[in-house]
Amino acid sequence: METVLSTHQLSKHYGRLKAVDKLDLTVPKGSVFGILGPNGSGKTTTLGMLLDVIQPTGGSYNWFDKPGSKEQRKKIGAILETPIFYPYLSAVKNLEVVALIKEVGPQRIPEVLKQVGLSERQNDKYRTYSLGMKQRLSIASALLCDPDVMILDEPTNGLDPQGIADIRSLIIDIARQGKTIVLASHLLDEVQKVCTDFAVLNKGSLIYTGKVEDVAKGESKVVVKAEVNLEPVLQKCPLVVDAKPVNNGRFEVSMAEGKTAIDLNRFLFDQKIVASHLETQTKSLEKQFLEILNQA
Ligand SMILES: Nc1ncnc2c1ncn2[C@@H]1O[C@H](COP(=O)(O)OP(=O)(O)OP(=O)(O)O)[C@@H](O)[C@H]1O
Ligand SMILES: [Mg+2]
Repeated sequence: METVLSTHQLSKHYGRLKAVDKLDLTVPKGSVFGILGPNGSGKTTTLGMLLDVIQPTGGSYNWFDKPGSKEQRKKIGAILETPIFYPYLSAVKNLEVVALIKEVGPQRIPEVLKQVGLSERQNDKYRTYSLGMKQRLSIASALLCDPDVMILDEPTNGLDPQGIADIRSLIIDIARQGKTIVLASHLLDEVQKVCTDFAVLNKGSLIYTGKVEDVAKGESKVVVKAEVNLEPVLQKCPLVVDAKPVNNGRFEVSMAEGKTAIDLNRFLFDQKIVASHLETQTKSLEKQFLEILNQA
């Protein structure tokens, strides 16, 4: 697995306030990496350090296995805060200005406008754009230099449901082209829908990192009922970590790692017991996220 970004004990302290504290992250190439955390947890500060606009007070980071440099910055497209566009200029004209500043040449302007779905409105003035269109123009601007990595801070903030859906599918589309994306969000479902990997920050500290799909697997819980008392059966079942009665003779069973309702059903059947109710309850990322936050 190729690594695009790694941070080592990366920290930013403001006096006694630890905005980011000893952060170790590894971002695999081609991933959509979500930095998830509540307001004030250090997401923007982290992205700011990675983009060299905030000076770390400790630790380090490597982009493409090398310490940050101007050369590498060119491979990174970023939207930290909404970039300033000229309200009276069109999308095309605004991107021409950006291209001049970034010294990249205007050839890619039609292509990036097409990718973000602004081609039809490309000659309209920026001030006539909706919030979602403005955000898409920001992304187009970050794409101009054909970066290997995109950094996005809360890319769907303030958008309506359609705008949110558009931006999310655009992000997935960009990732499909082989780009690595690092995005900060305080929204669980955003990370669930868009990201492949994620890290959870709380008060500046990393409290969890892993693959989104692994979290969805999680430890599964099964609710089971049979016409006989299941308590003694479940207690001696090696597949079961814990079983507690809920209601109407049902039991909520925590299954051993990797074991599912199918295994439990087979076990009961071998004991000549037929389940009259069997239901898997996979833990959602949301529930786990809240559990993670509560542990912190
Ligand atoms: N320049 C600064 N001086 C002092 N404290 C700061 C400064 N910038 C950020 N902080 C503090 O650092 C902490 C992390 O802030 P940060 O903006 O990184 O959080 P965030 O996760 O991006 O939050 P949000 O979801 O609200 O955008 C906060 O407690 C914030 O008040
Ligand atoms: Mg922020």
